[in-house]
Amino acid sequence: MIDEILGLVKKHEEWRGKQCLNLIPSENVMSPAVRGLLSSDLAHRYTARDRFYMGTRFIDNIEQYGEEIAKDVFGAETADLRPLSGHIADLIFIASFVKPNDVLMCISPEDGGYPGMWKDGLAGLFSLKAVPFPFSKHDMNIKVEEAKGAITRVKPKIVIFGASLITFPHPVRELTEVAHENGAHVGFDGSHVMGLIAGEHFQDPLKEGASALFGSTHKTLFGPQGGIILADKEHGEITKAKIYPTFVDNAHWNRIAALTLALAETKKFGKAYAEQVIRNAKTLAGALYDYGFPVTCQHLGFTQSHQVLLDYGGFEKGRVVAEKLQCANIIVDCGVRIGTCEVTRRGMKEREMSKIAELIKRKIIDKEQPENVKKEVAKLCAEFQKAEYCFES
Ligand SMILES: Cc1ncc(COP(=O)(O)O)c(C=O)c1O
Repeated sequence: MIDEILGLVKKHEEWRGKQCLNLIPSENVMSPAVRGLLSSDLAHRYTARDRFYMGTRFIDNIEQYGEEIAKDVFGAETADLRPLSGHIADLIFIASFVKPNDVLMCISPEDGGYPGMWKDGLAGLFSLKAVPFPFSKHDMNIKVEEAKGAITRVKPKIVIFGASLITFPHPVRELTEVAHENGAHVGFDGSHVMGLIAGEHFQDPLKEGASALFGSTHKTLFGPQGGIILADKEHGEITKAKIYPTFVDNAHWNRIAALTLALAETKKFGKAYAEQVIRNAKTLAGALYDYGFPVTCQHLGFTQSHQVLLDYGGFEKGRVVAEKLQCANIIVDCGVRIGTCEVTRRGMKEREMSKIAELIKRKIIDKEQPENVKKEVAKLCAEFQKAEYCFES
């Protein structure tokens, strides 16, 4: 039994860790030091704010330290590292400010919004009426003037920017005032773009008027899988009071130590990283477009984030493409979303993006044998095994 379990993990590590070009925009790799903290003794321990457990003095210091770095990196008045995932961070924010039958306005999953926020997800859980932002697929963005009208009409209790498909900054500055005038709490789900925000190369939702920025810590932010909430004092104090005992008890202190170190890496290397992620995405998008792939928003320079979107008209058609690429060890999702966050962390730059576009084209357009492409993928991956943008350890 033990051989089987360890064998499966080893096979996965060999394949996804060493031989695959990982282009899933929701994923990244941790530095060895951050990854090492996940298996520290902290993984066995409890602490609680009411000081119920003894033996917690270093754990509590780590949490405090982590919150301070997070506030610094994001320019936030409060930070909380306890949410166990991006979804839980979304849940905590929403639950803190709504009652049944309130209106939640966010981007519909049809337009690339996060399905977990919608009717079958959190909106349903809290009996909220989910109203979509008016959205332009052509520009992959919220239609500002129509959104102002919709907010005035439906008076949402909560307005959430951010999405799962996100190639351009959202109009937070343009819409916050009207949202506030109509009684809304404004949040930004930065699950995808958290590392770009931290690196000051996307938008800055907290400065633009959002009261809270929340989401995952492992997409463009290169931390362990988990969640975070950054907020102004008023909203941060309310969510902090809710987190325990309602949504998180044991916050997994090994994860929080790892996240704290990843935030320190972000403070030092985050700007250079975010800049390169976006440059890589633009280069990859341009090269794919030139080969004839259906890359969205050519008129806007394709993307200003880590994502490149290929529009095949739905997940089922996208799946066909994603499966063909998987045969050549090129890993994307069925969106088809292609992300440059992980390959950038591994040190790839514009030259490698052109190579990746060529490999994708050889598999999808030239229909070359997967074995040929796979060999070149493996060669490219072998050159970029180390995590960059981190402290030497
Ligand atoms: C916009 C958005 N919010 C939240 C989530 C959920 O994040 P997590 O997987 O960390 O729970 C996702 C998932 O990818 C997402 O795309």
